[in-house]
Amino acid sequence: MTGPGIVPVEWRGDAVAILGQRLLPHREEVLECRTVAEVAEAIRSLAVRGAPIIGVTAAYGMALAATLSTQTRPRRLLAELEEAARTLKAARPTAVNLAWAVDRMMRVATGQCCSVGSTVQRVHEAMVAEALRIEAEDREACAAIGAHGLELVPEGARVLTHCNTGMLCTAGIGTALGVIVAAHRAGRGVHVWVDETRPVLQGARLTAWELGRLGIPRTLVVDAAAGSLMARGLVDLVIVGADRIAANGDVANKIGTYPLAVLARHHGVPFYVAAPTSTVDLGTGSGAGIPIEERDPAEVLAPGGVPVAEPDTPVANPAFDVTPAELVSAIVTERGVVRPPYARTLAELVAPRGAA
Ligand code: MRU
Repeated sequence: MTGPGIVPVEWRGDAVAILGQRLLPHREEVLECRTVAEVAEAIRSLAVRGAPIIGVTAAYGMALAATLSTQTRPRRLLAELEEAARTLKAARPTAVNLAWAVDRMMRVATGQCCSVGSTVQRVHEAMVAEALRIEAEDREACAAIGAHGLELVPEGARVLTHCNTGMLCTAGIGTALGVIVAAHRAGRGVHVWVDETRPVLQGARLTAWELGRLGIPRTLVVDAAAGSLMARGLVDLVIVGADRIAANGDVANKIGTYPLAVLARHHGVPFYVAAPTSTVDLGTGSGAGIPIEERDPAEVLAPGGVPVAEPDTPVANPAFDVTPAELVSAIVTERGVVRPPYARTLAELVAPRGAA
């Protein structure tokens, strides 16, 4: 349990239980995924969404693959796990936490399968243990992000946020929303402007709902209101999450994040990004190398199933945009707050502990 009854994903031994986010806040449903294909589909269809929890879910998907396997030889099991890894990684391309978690699970599988005297039972146990560890680490990372982020939130801050970055999409209190929760709990008296976040409305449906459950004052606004709010001096800071942070500090996040950063710069409002280091991808040099997911036109043509345009209208529906590092005032991670130049500060932050 991560907060007021919000458990986004749970390992059940023979299934991955997912709190379905598609119908929230109007209907709470728990989906029991019993195959790797079902886990991948839950990720693809946004039943479970948000970079950190996608990683946790994929890790449990890998544990499920090991549990379901009927192979009796570790090396044959490994071949099956490689297939499961491909299926899960293909579910969504932008959030690097997905590939990060699957690769981490495969390293454990490979290490176990190739060790002398290994058994499939041991591989299975090691993979479940690793998935549980990934979830626990994410919970701790969120708490640390919240604590570090406190230094960025002044008394009485009016905070604007985009998409959903809270308990539904992490194993803990959230990333950007985690900072807001920590500030609220520290008595800072924050008020949150919640962007509705077109086209899937993660802000209106999920963030407003989470903040309501937590008793944090919030006001829902259409995405297009952000500029007007800033121009009227009603926003003290913007804080958002990330799906992937490139080595130079460019940030891929929910579509609509980049215009917020431009507006924030124009109005002299700090623009912060909060994410665990599992979202930092030093292997991708800049935002130009980040794959941007293009989603179903139906999300735009008929949001929530309600038609708003002629069904044959041509649509572009990129799910994410890239905010250039120069517009990012600071990045909050579980290891601390980093500022420009990100090429140096991120590399130092993510370097293995104890490395020179
Ligand atoms: O398409 P989504 O809903 O998965 O997009 C989510 C976001 O863009 C979040 O801001 C990001 O994953 C960070 S979640 C802590």
